[in-house]
Amino acid sequence: MTAHSPSTHAGLTAEPSRPLGGTIRVPGDKSISHRALIFGALAVGETRIRGLLEGEDVLATAETMRRLGARVMRHEDGTWSVFGVGVGGLQEPAVPLDFGNSGTGARLVMGLVAGHPVTATFIGDASLSRRPMGRVIDPLTQMGAHFHAREGGRMPLTLTGARRALPIVYRSPVASAQVKSAILLAGLNAPGVTTVIEPVPTRDHTERMLRAFGAHIETRQGKDGLEISLTGEPELTPCPIAVPGDPSSAAFPVVAALLVPGSDIVVQGITLNPHRAGLYTTLKEMGGDIEIMNQREEGGEPVADLRVRHSRLKGIDVPPARAASMIDEYPVLAVAAAFADGETRMMGIHELRVKESDRIAATASGLRANGVKVHESEDGMVVEGRSGAVAGGGHVATHMDHRIAMSFLVMGFAAEKPVTVDDASMIATSFPDFTGLMRGLGASLVGQTQ
Ligand code: S3P
Repeated sequence: MTAHSPSTHAGLTAEPSRPLGGTIRVPGDKSISHRALIFGALAVGETRIRGLLEGEDVLATAETMRRLGARVMRHEDGTWSVFGVGVGGLQEPAVPLDFGNSGTGARLVMGLVAGHPVTATFIGDASLSRRPMGRVIDPLTQMGAHFHAREGGRMPLTLTGARRALPIVYRSPVASAQVKSAILLAGLNAPGVTTVIEPVPTRDHTERMLRAFGAHIETRQGKDGLEISLTGEPELTPCPIAVPGDPSSAAFPVVAALLVPGSDIVVQGITLNPHRAGLYTTLKEMGGDIEIMNQREEGGEPVADLRVRHSRLKGIDVPPARAASMIDEYPVLAVAAAFADGETRMMGIHELRVKESDRIAATASGLRANGVKVHESEDGMVVEGRSGAVAGGGHVATHMDHRIAMSFLVMGFAAEKPVTVDDASMIATSFPDFTGLMRGLGASLVGQTQ
């Protein structure tokens, strides 16, 4: 299902916009959507999912669950059903599993397969094939899985799961919810308790959903970090899942509304899980007028509506300890910082170099192409704000990265001259209706096929 070939690159230009206004919902959370399909495939019986993100990344995971033996179907009303096979019940796929652009799908399913005695080949697009898999290969090998990977632990790779997985205690060297989740997924089919120790807490959707499906999982503060312990071989019982709106997708209309003078918008129903809400805390510290309304709990996640009005922003020092809670939001934060008064320092974000693209390099060159000064270091960047007057007019290389594409389109709505991204096709991986939604708010986007 790798949908993109270099010949289908579609450029897109964002033009200076009139004030944005209106009320929108953004698509379902990507992290929760992947997990709903995966845990649904491991439960016995039907898991019903409402609000699933129908982006390419998640659709690739849905297809993978079918290849591994689960029945996955979309109903006419837009809800989805997964009929699971039970922990230990996966079948060997007849063809390679194609994850497209999705590191989350690939790494989580590696954990899943590692706990089953089956062999599977993992493939993906050029961006995914460059990303490091050693971070999951190491612990999953300790649990008894065997990998044949390309040089440097890259995909394509073939994985044979353990006949009898070993529960391990693993101190993760990287702050990564994907690594934590891969180990816990393998630990589901291991006899005994699997423990992951996180140096820095990361998003906890896996833990929340496993608990909702009836697994025994405990979290406590240890001396080396947060310890997450899962008791293996549970019977997972399906429970209905309502996927909340994705705060990482909401980031784009929210920043656009802060930057375009006169804007006033409402984004409804996004999760403000504390492990995901770092951008919103940061934007408020910068002076962003963001009102959090109707706070509630939905499907085990804290949810709220946000009212966002155009604001004059000031540069700040973003605490490195906040990085994990806004790891995907730095490119769009850098765009906000370009319009602020003074400097914004973002440090402790080395992980950005191994996302869908090297996001520090891609963001820095996009800023420069639009007349913004930025100082780049190995693990961070400092953006020199231009007090509302960003020249724009640049042509930005997106490097197969949806978030780079959307971030610079947001810049184009508020800059003096239009901003063009070379390839908008990747936006479909996480936010299929980005263009329609932004146009609905009043933004101007002009397509160009190259
Ligand atoms: C994700 C975790 C993050 C994030 C990614 C989704 C997840 O990656 O960047 O978009 O769903 O677990 P890391 O855990 O590798 O930082």
